[in-house]
Amino acid sequence: MSESIWKKNLSISDRDQLEETIKTDVCIIGAGMAGILTGYMLQKQGLGVVILEADRIGSGQTRGTTAKITSQHGLIYNRLCRNFGAAGAWQYASANEEAIDNYERIIDEEHISCDFKRCASYLYTKKSTDLLEKEAEAARLSGIAASLTKEIELPLNITAALRFPNQAVFHPLKFLQALSEKLDIYEKSKVLKITGRKVETEFGKVWAKHIVFACHFPFINIPGYYFMRLYQERSYILALKNAMSLENYYYGIDNDGLSFRMAGEYLLLSGGNHRTGAKLTDSPYKLHSEMAAKLWPDSFTAANWSAQDCMTPEGVPYIGRFSKKAPNWYVATGFGKWGMTSSMISAKILSNLIMGQAGIGQDIFYPQRELCGEAIVGYLKNGLHTIKNFSKYLIPKSKKSCTHLGCPLTWNPEEGTYECPCHGSRFDSKGRLIGGPARKNLHTDGL
Ligand code: FES
Repeated sequence: MSESIWKKNLSISDRDQLEETIKTDVCIIGAGMAGILTGYMLQKQGLGVVILEADRIGSGQTRGTTAKITSQHGLIYNRLCRNFGAAGAWQYASANEEAIDNYERIIDEEHISCDFKRCASYLYTKKSTDLLEKEAEAARLSGIAASLTKEIELPLNITAALRFPNQAVFHPLKFLQALSEKLDIYEKSKVLKITGRKVETEFGKVWAKHIVFACHFPFINIPGYYFMRLYQERSYILALKNAMSLENYYYGIDNDGLSFRMAGEYLLLSGGNHRTGAKLTDSPYKLHSEMAAKLWPDSFTAANWSAQDCMTPEGVPYIGRFSKKAPNWYVATGFGKWGMTSSMISAKILSNLIMGQAGIGQDIFYPQRELCGEAIVGYLKNGLHTIKNFSKYLIPKSKKSCTHLGCPLTWNPEEGTYECPCHGSRFDSKGRLIGGPARKNLHTDGL
């Protein structure tokens, strides 16, 4: 696998490792989009902020994104109306639309050159139009100026498409680089322990009034129990050259649907989603390659990479207080495939909470919200999936066990990684941890 196109010709300067004890107002764990934006907003309001990053700035999920800034998240509004009513769906839509505006405002105010562009976002189908018609109605009820059409730029025989106007795209790492320069960030400073207001890394400590988990998957099991409320999915992105040019972006809702957006000279095709740790029977790039060969025979692959997303059972992120038992801890996770917009929403909600201010979205994204029917079914399915995988660990005992809670790992041949089917931790072929909730490398005698 090659590196994502966002890394091409861009280098973010290295920061020191934390080797001292610091006192501050807010300690943020994770220097990805959610952590950097939260730090930026709080610092703007006069608070002292320290950000701790286990690896390098933007080295996690931000570098793997397709970087759409949008309130169109698949078939979400019909689902939201069903589970949270029209008021909940309106809150979700408003927070997302506000997030798009906030990106534009910050880019303007800070004079950031990051290829930000307003455009429309489309869902499309080649099958029955029922789902899109329902989604159109629910989106309009939620306050979005959604419209149905059959006209799209892609050379596909669709039956319908649902258009959201005034969405956006940008270059995520150019944006992150510019904002990160304003912040106090320590790299290679993995958090090992948190007790109350004390955050400990290998060589240093931060004492903070507020602690924000913006590290993709919260790695503390109790309190919060996020490992029981989240699962992870992988998706795969192909960057084509010499294909075609698009003004807007597209997301297929059918099983074999892909998503498409332009990034400079590249056409990005994204799809092949699967639960992390699932056994692959085919290349996850198969659909992309077949479509590229059929529609754009003169194109060629310039880069390909994968992304990992935290999913909640009802498709709404957890953003807010970490747990009733830890009142000064905050969390931003479960962004699904919509990490850029959700990162901005997180920054707004968390900075409002820390500053004691009200704002859009504090109820719908509340991590301890009441469970809707769909969430209960999702939890049960998730629990059964985990129990099934744990049982493989008990009889017979697997040597390649995850260092989070011991699930047996599967091998992803496409990426050359071990993946945990329980909660999605990943390790390279030498057993080194790539992504949590696990915090430790594999025991090498298991490899
Ligand atoms: Fe939880 Fe592996 S990630 S057991």
